[in-house]
Amino acid sequence: MARDEIIHDPEYGNKAEAFEAYDDIPTNPNLGNTIGDVINERYGRREVLRGMLGVSATTALFGSSALVAPKRAAAMTAADSRYVFDELAWGNDERHHIADGYNADVLVRWGDPITADAPEFDVMNQTPEAQSKQFGYNNDYVGFAEIEPGRGMLCVNHEYTNEEVMFPGLGRQDRTGFEGMTKELVDIEMAAHGGSVFEVVKGADGKWSVNRDNPANRRVTANTPMTIDGPAAGHPRMRTSADPAGMTVLGTINNCAGGMTPWGTYLMAEENFHGYFWSDTLDAEGRPDVSAQPEADSMIRYGVPGRWYAWGKFHDRFNIDKEPNESNRFGYIVEVDPMNPDAMPIKHTALGRFRHEGAETTIASDGRLVIYSGDDNRFDYLYKWVSADPVTEENSRFGSELLSEGTLYVARFNPDGVIDWLPLVHGEGPLTAENGFESQADIAIDTRLAADALGATPMDRPEDAQPGPNGTAYVMLTNNNRRTPEQVNAANPRPESNFGHIIEIREDGGNHSSPKGTWEILVLCGDPAIAEVGARWNPETSEAGWFSSPDNCAIDDAGRLWVSTDQGSGWGRTGKSDGLYSLETEGDLRGHAKLFFRCPVGGELCGPYFADNDETLFLAVQHPGTDGTKDYPGFERDSTFEDPATRWPDFDPNMPPRPSVVVVTKQGGGKIAV
Ligand code: FEO
Ligand code: CA
Ligand code: CA
Ligand code: CA
Repeated sequence: MARDEIIHDPEYGNKAEAFEAYDDIPTNPNLGNTIGDVINERYGRREVLRGMLGVSATTALFGSSALVAPKRAAAMTAADSRYVFDELAWGNDERHHIADGYNADVLVRWGDPITADAPEFDVMNQTPEAQSKQFGYNNDYVGFAEIEPGRGMLCVNHEYTNEEVMFPGLGRQDRTGFEGMTKELVDIEMAAHGGSVFEVVKGADGKWSVNRDNPANRRVTANTPMTIDGPAAGHPRMRTSADPAGMTVLGTINNCAGGMTPWGTYLMAEENFHGYFWSDTLDAEGRPDVSAQPEADSMIRYGVPGRWYAWGKFHDRFNIDKEPNESNRFGYIVEVDPMNPDAMPIKHTALGRFRHEGAETTIASDGRLVIYSGDDNRFDYLYKWVSADPVTEENSRFGSELLSEGTLYVARFNPDGVIDWLPLVHGEGPLTAENGFESQADIAIDTRLAADALGATPMDRPEDAQPGPNGTAYVMLTNNNRRTPEQVNAANPRPESNFGHIIEIREDGGNHSSPKGTWEILVLCGDPAIAEVGARWNPETSEAGWFSSPDNCAIDDAGRLWVSTDQGSGWGRTGKSDGLYSLETEGDLRGHAKLFFRCPVGGELCGPYFADNDETLFLAVQHPGTDGTKDYPGFERDSTFEDPATRWPDFDPNMPPRPSVVVVTKQGGGKIAV
């Protein structure tokens, strides 16, 4: 569908939904080159399509432990789950819900002051100055850096802004060419992006609260100066008129998920950065035309400029006609020192440039730091980065050279269940000057093009990838409604996948830095009662327990996996709100999911982050009241500032819904789900 058709299609009720639907048009050139034919030859396309594979073929495809033989399953029931809690009922309404016996308290909301000198929130009189000291919009990643038991710095990403529910009287802007956007509104949006770092304290009553008086509290925004580090630092492609050295960039944008390093710094992933860039050079159909740009191939592969925000109308650096290199300076992992507000954040180009969903870290058994990161685009890739040196006491600090030197790998999922991690190293294989990669800087900037050249496996939108115990990693593949039957491959087995799946990786030798491992599909998501969906769960999973569109995930101290979902406007297909689920990875209950928390209507669930010895769980409810509200029975229209589907969490008639962080604790104290 053409861009304009999607923008005006009533199915897409807000800009974010239209953006998601349009902007993920695959730019990967390798789609004719998948291994789908292998699977089709072996099992027959119709069988794969209809989810009707026999047990032997299914075992070969999805791994023996993904299926539990009925006899063995009978020995284990849902009551034997390692996650001890009574499952929540499923549904979707204007409030959030938590399993019985737990509290889920709102900790901080969009607009809440987070520094001592921040003004109180005044939703009718927003300013960039106030917003830059208040909690930002659309909280996604949540991390926690402990100072002492019961006290630490909360680190929260602010992914994007929804102008139609954020600003009074404005309405949706992509349909009008952003005619309502003023510089003042753009500057508020820029201040609402980035991240928030602030102290939180657990009181004697077991309740957490924000301490806005800690002088280390700060906002990181789309205007915060940051240092560029790694192979692309100072490269001519990183230079702009404002920064002729190519060493300093203003701001970070579309920070989706992230991670915490072993030394307690906060990693912010830059995801859909392309959407913020503008151009006035349009083709006959009104789409950006980059054909005259010297870096046209790279811009096309990254979707730059997206023109989903009006920033480039007021700030030349976001207009590629005026500042073509600025977009090369976004799409990285940013490191922030949560303890030192004067420490300039660092963009680590060694970790590559793509639509980084997250940056979850672990120390491999050989002592090196490993960071997993998905490129969240239909048919894009899964990456991991391995430091050159092992983690030592000396290099365990902010700005450590550890994050400057290492090897970035991209994943090839072979149909025999082996995963090969292909190194993105200049001079190796096709990554040579002959093929357009003059140095490692070109690989850092054009990571996608380099990964294309290596033949990585095009995936169903890789979201969070979480290292687990013993060399395991869990990869959330959220959905991919554009995969055709011809493009199916072993690791992405369903065409037109609306519900997503989760892959488990076991790195060789239990060592996360290994260049090889094995993989299998842990669950195929969606409703197991509908054969055409082709879902695969442990048979003990209840009607409330199955889910769709896994996005973020976490591993608690006990090594147990938790998954949060983002169905976007697709929740109408399941009738379920987004939420948090436990997902068993071991034993006879492997593949068994249980619902623990659910979002108010229109919101996606982010975080999750376990802290405080698993006694505290931080969750982020992003964009409450926005997505798919036309499917919300009784409401059935798009939300606006004046008329939202929910006014969560305040339920104040003068306040729109507010993205907020929720803190979950057990009533009476104790570890969660134990
Ligand atoms: Fe921002 Fe990939 O979700
Ligand atoms: Ca996400
Ligand atoms: Ca995670
Ligand atoms: Ca998502």
